[in-house]
Amino acid sequence: MIKFTKQPVRILKEFGKSISCFNIQKFNIDEKTVYSFGEEWNKFNSFTEKEISDIGQQYFDILPPEINKDSLVLDVGCGTGRWSKYLSDKVKWIDAVDPSNAVFAAAKLLSETNNVRVSQASADDLPFESGTFDLVMSVGVLHHIPDTQQALADITTKAKQGGFVYVYLYYALDNRGQLFRVIFKLTNAMRFFISKLPSFMKKLACEVIAFLIYLPLVGISYLFKRIFKNSKLWEKIPLSFYVGTSLKVIRNDALDRFGTPLEQRFTKQQVVEMMEQVGLRDITVSNNMPYWHAIGKRVDN
Ligand SMILES: C[S@@+](CC[C@H](N)C(=O)[O-])C[C@H]1O[C@@H](n2cnc3c(N)ncnc32)[C@H](O)[C@@H]1O
Repeated sequence: MIKFTKQPVRILKEFGKSISCFNIQKFNIDEKTVYSFGEEWNKFNSFTEKEISDIGQQYFDILPPEINKDSLVLDVGCGTGRWSKYLSDKVKWIDAVDPSNAVFAAAKLLSETNNVRVSQASADDLPFESGTFDLVMSVGVLHHIPDTQQALADITTKAKQGGFVYVYLYYALDNRGQLFRVIFKLTNAMRFFISKLPSFMKKLACEVIAFLIYLPLVGISYLFKRIFKNSKLWEKIPLSFYVGTSLKVIRNDALDRFGTPLEQRFTKQQVVEMMEQVGLRDITVSNNMPYWHAIGKRVDN
């Protein structure tokens, strides 16, 4: 087991897992966003093996063969721990950390997984020596942190020289047409108001959006996929990513998208530049959905 560099302020026992809780610094964190995720992940925290496996394959299509049964992994902003669960039988050890109360949901989902430890900590104050991990991953997290570039720099230090850093960052719709951008402007304005609502109303508004906006668009995408079998036309429909996913995942993502106070977006070019700036090389950005997920190798000193 990897040694922490400092003492936790408390250790809680949940679902048979010991959760070490570290002091959360207020340097580079949006407290309202973290609180909102604590609520979200304690509402949506059960996933079937198939859901984790199907979506996991999309996220981790660029994982290199060097990440294997000998690898030590750090999952920063683990949420429910679903991607730690996905990787748990492919690597040696995973430290999964999140500053929010999502750690309780993660302890539950990972209760039968012996090689994953769950801790409460933030990206700007990770309780591990520099250069510890073969893979540092942060899936859908850094765009919810005020200074994304700094957060990327902070987590990168925890990767070994020659180790990998994987990130998924919300895309700036740079590979999409005008229609997507107009829809995005509209949805972003909605998020601005919805994320400020009291918890009950926020959840209700996101449920309405899931049923009245997400579901119809996913349905249309599905029909296009079936009718125009040899065409990729269906992928051009907003929210087509959700074809084949469960209603629960759709409701969860609607809450994620409209209920989160802080969200930033990056072009593919910006993702590459940010990664290069923190000393990552051999960068691969997947051209597959979800956009953009990328991996690079740490080569600085
Ligand atoms: C969209 S969720 C992604 C969760 C998980 N990686 C997944 O894909 O299922 C974003 C997560 O980032 C966490 N987060 C927010 N600010 C953070 C910070 N400063 N350090 C680490 N994690 C943070 C939130 O608590 C939340 O669980």
